[in-house]
Amino acid sequence: MRKKIIAMIITGILAVSVTACQSDGEQSSSQSQNSGQTESSANVEIPEDANILVAYFTYGENAKLPDGVDASSSASIQAWDGDTTGNTGLAAHWISDAAGGDLFSIQTEEKYPGDYDDTVDQGQEEQSENARPKLSSHVDHMDQYDVVFLGYPNWWGDMPMAVYSFLDEYDLSGKTVIPFVTSGGSGFSDTVSAIKEEEPDADVQEGLELSDSETADSEDEVKSWVESLGVN
Ligand SMILES: Cc1cc2nc3c(=O)[nH]c(=O)nc-3n(C[C@H](O)[C@H](O)[C@H](O)COP(=O)(O)O)c2cc1C
Repeated sequence: MRKKIIAMIITGILAVSVTACQSDGEQSSSQSQNSGQTESSANVEIPEDANILVAYFTYGENAKLPDGVDASSSASIQAWDGDTTGNTGLAAHWISDAAGGDLFSIQTEEKYPGDYDDTVDQGQEEQSENARPKLSSHVDHMDQYDVVFLGYPNWWGDMPMAVYSFLDEYDLSGKTVIPFVTSGGSGFSDTVSAIKEEEPDADVQEGLELSDSETADSEDEVKSWVESLGVN
């Protein structure tokens, strides 16, 4: 497993290096390799009357987990209000609390294996096939939202393919999209550019990067970040 984690992080770093070589513009600090610290460079003021959606994908809400699984059983399983979520799910709940937005969990029809190693392999396969897993959850009236916080874990230097399914399903033109990511160290990799490509008419900002080992202790930091965007 340790070898796999190192391989995943290297994949994330390589994805960023390739982008850096291709880019003739400036590269923001949060697109460089994340050292494991929380980072953000969103440059946006959210109007007070904005309608906000906090959409996120997290392993803990997408896996066939055995009954009674708890936060100690995997680094990616967290508890929220008696339910199981993951690192990104925790951050999403705090963002929604602080921003007053609606929460939306991106969920796939086919659940991921309860075994985390198997999920790591499946995530890589789906990426190599450019898969679009079918979603079982859908947003009612996406048109009512002005701002979409979009959270996901870094999977092999990219977003889980289910997040591409989500972006395929909705037209986010004219909305402000604020990505947030949790990872073992790769941070966003090149995912902010990928979202810009998928949603060319949205205002896609650089959002917040959290390291998986620190996410559970980041509530104050996440909420202060949301307040710094002008919403509270
Ligand atoms: C399929 C898969 C691939 C991953 N690839 C990477 C990676 O390339 N770089 C990295 O830093 N972390 C990687 N991770 C670790 C997760 O990004 C990290 O643990 C994240 O916080 C999990 O979030 P979640 O609990 O919301 O699912 C990977 C995890 C999985 C399951």
